[in-house]
Amino acid sequence: MKTITVKTLLKMKESGQRIAMMTAYDYPTAKLLDQAGLHVLLIGDSLGMVVQGNATTVPVTLDDIVYHTRMVVRGAEHPLIVSDMPFLTTHGAHEDVLAKAGRLMQEGGAHAVKIEGGKELAPVVARLVAAGIPVMGHIGLMPQTVHALGGFSVQGRTVEAAERMLEDARALEAAGAFAIVLEMVPAEVAEWISGSLRIPTIGIGAGAGCDGQVLVFHDAMGFTSGYIPKHNKAYATLADTIVSAARNYVQEVTDGFFPSEAQTVHLKAEELDKLNSSAA
Ligand code: KIV
Ligand code: NA
Repeated sequence: MKTITVKTLLKMKESGQRIAMMTAYDYPTAKLLDQAGLHVLLIGDSLGMVVQGNATTVPVTLDDIVYHTRMVVRGAEHPLIVSDMPFLTTHGAHEDVLAKAGRLMQEGGAHAVKIEGGKELAPVVARLVAAGIPVMGHIGLMPQTVHALGGFSVQGRTVEAAERMLEDARALEAAGAFAIVLEMVPAEVAEWISGSLRIPTIGIGAGAGCDGQVLVFHDAMGFTSGYIPKHNKAYATLADTIVSAARNYVQEVTDGFFPSEAQTVHLKAEELDKLNSSAA
């Protein structure tokens, strides 16, 4: 597999090739997802929920994303690596936003950053792009605003709301974003926006008409034990696998079946003789 760049993604849209993106938060997972052929790996602030156990993505810090990005970068050779800008990090002075995005690339090793927000953030996007930082947009449901929204709900359900969403998408594209995530948007609206843009859209809960799809790793692998969104598809049952394997281990330890000969090292015969005589 070839290395994926932001240019590759644009070409994929032009040739009608779908983009497969998934979140990753650590080295072993990144290595496996690279092996599986993922085009884009996202160090999403969803890690606040699926890894840290928080109720929202709001508590996630820039340091958290830098830390996880480093691990993912070590494991992934081919996919484009995109890191989330956490809550509030895109709302300061442009120099501050630039420095924060710079940390994700310089300390973390990300190839691009993702920003939640619409046309109000277009000037920030333009500033980052001018500095050589590729930016992925994120509109529709923006989980960082959960407390303002009053919950995680589908966005763009009226024609007026859909038109505002298209305006946001167009402003982000004009500012130089290389792709846009559409989260929890009716399929017809997502398809309409996708057809109106030159850059690819990556959907999550946004139907099949997007140029690509993204899922949260833990949800996609059946590793999540709490709330699982309706738009998710679990491609594996990791939680069940881990619980039954760990139960087996507990049973074998308590029964004395683990470790067995296969996992055991013995003393050489002459040392064993000495041990036995000194013990006597
Ligand atoms: O944090 C995340 O996982 C995301 C994706 C759902 C797009 O932003
Ligand atoms: Na996110």
